[in-house]
Parts: sequence; C-alpha cells; structure tokens
Amino acid sequence: MAKLIYSGITSLDGYVADADGNFDWSAPDAEVHTFINDLERPIGTYLYGRRMYEVMAYWETAHLAADQPEVIRDFTGIWQAADKVVHSTTLEKASSARTRVERRFDPEAVRQLKATSGRDISVGGPHLAGQAITAGLVDELHLFVTPVVVGGGTPSLPDNVRFGLELLDEHRFGSGVVHLHYRITS
Ligand SMILES: NC(=O)c1ccc[n+]([C@@H]2O[C@H](COP(=O)([O-])OP(=O)(O)OC[C@H]3O[C@@H](n4cnc5c(N)ncnc54)[C@H](OP(=O)(O)O)[C@@H]3O)[C@@H](O)[C@H]2O)c1
Repeated sequence: MAKLIYSGITSLDGYVADADGNFDWSAPDAEVHTFINDLERPIGTYLYGRRMYEVMAYWETAHLAADQPEVIRDFTGIWQAADKVVHSTTLEKASSARTRVERRFDPEAVRQLKATSGRDISVGGPHLAGQAITAGLVDELHLFVTPVVVGGGTPSLPDNVRFGLELLDEHRFGSGVVHLHYRITS
C-alpha cells in the first residue's frame, strides 16, 4: 500500500503564502533543497491543486537554464520522472509531460491509487491537501517550518478537522528551518 504524503514549507504561524500571495521567504537553500530531493526521490505521483502545479511546472523546463547547481539538476530529474495529476476546474491543458487534469477531487480514486501504486504519492498545495486530510487519506506530513511570521495568508493546514500526530523525525538546518515529520494517527 503506497503512502499519501503532504509536504509543505510553512511560516512559524502556519502559512504557505502571505496575504499578498508572496512566498519568496520559503525558497529552500541548498542544504534544505538537498534534503527535500531525498524525500521526493521515492515519489511516483504528485497530486496537485492548480495553484501549486502552476508554480511547480517551472521544473518541466528547468534543465534548459544554463549552469544550474547540482541540487537543482537533481530535483529537475526527480520531478520530470514522476506522474502528475492536476486538480482544476479552470486549467484547459497541462503544460508538462506525464500529467493529466482532473476536474474534481475524488477520494475513492485516490484510495484506489494508494492500493495499486508501487511508489508513494504526494499531495499539495494546502487547498487540495486539506481535502485529502479531511477525507482521511493522508498518512504522513513533512512540514518545513521557516523562521518567519507572516501574519496571515494561505494556511498550511485545513480548518475544521482534528487529528492526532506521532512525531517520527525532526531536523534542524543551518538557516533555522526545522523539518518535522509526522504520521497521522487518528
Ligand atoms: N510555501 C511554499 O513552499 C509554496 C510553494 C509553491 C507555491 N506556494 C503558494 O501557496 C499557495 C497555495 O494555494 P492553494 O492552497 O490554493 O493551492 P492549491 O491547493 O495547489 O490550488 C488550489 C486550486 O486547486 C484546484 N482545486 C482544489 N480543489 C479542487 C477540487 N476538489 N476540484 C477541482 N479543482 C480543485 C482549484 O483550481 P481552479 O481554480 O483552477 O479550479 C483551486 O483554486 C499559492 O499561493 C502558491 O503560489 C507556496
């Protein structure tokens, strides 16, 4: 059974983007990026909301830029090798290979995918991930807590849902970012 994993880079007060939609404070440095690459390497399928997909689609052509550092080339290969499912009522066509567009989030289809996939599955951003969490489909969380308070914006976790967590691991980076790895217990 594949795991469904939600990963997000969040401010200390729990937002992935501030009230203006700005998230430049979340850009991972080389140390954090190297760690993220190793977490993402086993992922076979990314389930995306349209907003997160539009940001991540950058990686479809990232190899065309000259003189990319190794950590960026590594992530480019990881992302391009995985399948993607974009959820959107507005996106006409995906701009990347190995990508299909779904018009709705279907918990039963995700349940089936978990049962049949040989590799783990990732879900993001938080609007889509919140639906997967609320449906009881998410097994683990990876939160990268960035030392900044932004005062409002897009929350990293959904409202109106309550669940228990077991802390599986934590890691402190030189930048002050802290990685928290949780299993959802109930
Ligand atoms: N902190 C970071 O590291 C980081 C990284 C990248 C991006 N961000 C930012 O974080 C924010 C994430 O926002 P978000 O949580 O709204 O993003 P999201 O979950 O990726 O995307 C939301 C969009 O997904 C589609 N969607 C969601 N549920 C759906 C459903 N049940 N059926 C069909 N379509 C569905 C809708 O697209 P349609 O409107 O097309 O229907 C919806 O507007 C963005 O501002 C993004 O730029 C942060």
